Amino acid sequence: MAPTIVLITGANRGIGKGLLELYLAKPNHTVIAANRTPDDPTSKVLAELPKAEGTILLVTKIDATSATDPTRAVKDLASRGINHIDILIANAGIALLWPKVSEVKVEDIQTHVDTNVYGLIHLYQAFRPLLRKARGPKWVTIGSNFIPMQNAAYAPTKVVQHWYTKAIAVEEPWLTAFPIDPGWVQTDLGNRGADAFGYEKAAVTIEDSVNGLVKVIDASTLETHSGKLFKHDGAEEPW
Ligand SMILES: NC(=O)c1ccc[n+]([C@@H]2O[C@H](COP(=O)([O-])OP(=O)(O)OC[C@H]3O[C@@H](n4cnc5c(N)ncnc54)[C@H](OP(=O)(O)O)[C@@H]3O)[C@@H](O)[C@H]2O)c1
Repeated sequence: MAPTIVLITGANRGIGKGLLELYLAKPNHTVIAANRTPDDPTSKVLAELPKAEGTILLVTKIDATSATDPTRAVKDLASRGINHIDILIANAGIALLWPKVSEVKVEDIQTHVDTNVYGLIHLYQAFRPLLRKARGPKWVTIGSNFIPMQNAAYAPTKVVQHWYTKAIAVEEPWLTAFPIDPGWVQTDLGNRGADAFGYEKAAVTIEDSVNGLVKVIDASTLETHSGKLFKHDGAEEPW
């Protein structure tokens, strides 16, 4: 049987790495880590992660701020025999500061838009043909639902990601496309946020978050999930 091919962006740390570990633990999978800097030690060590039988790891370069990296990655992967993608998890993202609407600088909004929004669009446009070639393909955006905390540079970019993901689901009825909120997770990003708000750490462990995310992705179908927003615990969230 052909392996299931999964691509995860930003798979060298945080939620992306947690997801990578879980997919590498599944047999007969080809798992692609699409990382900003494949030469960085955080990417290099991924080669040593345990893998189930028939499962392999490939690493390719995608910087979310590059308009050309995704198409180059498609060519790089084609040269290694990858002509379709079954599951694509758009995970790479930044959250650098948490201003109020009254004080946010538009340059800071722009920085988050460059990575989180334009990065998603370049990724989708480059990889859509490979998803089209799969049977029952899935596009998953690691999003973030509204929380009542000041967050005027980053949070709006996640809402825009949700919109694009829902639009993809409507435009492409063959593709199961949906965003999932991973919870407030104890990653560099999540814990920096906790620190900024005077908490010791974020609420959810990486392990709990990614176990939930993979369960939701495994259970997802066109009819039940496409175009809807979910939480890592499997609950459907309002838009
Ligand atoms: N943690 C939370 O509480 C939380 C909540 C809701 C949603 N999320 C979302 O979950 C996703 C992962 O976040 P995380 O918490 O795991 O954050 P993290 O630990 O800070 O990891 C971020 C990942 O994104 C990558 N990345 C950042 N900028 C990039 C770029 N320009 N090009 C390519 N990769 C880039 C990082 O790679 P480098 O190592 O190269 O920087 C890293 O792999 C994000 O989309 C985030 O918005 C997180």
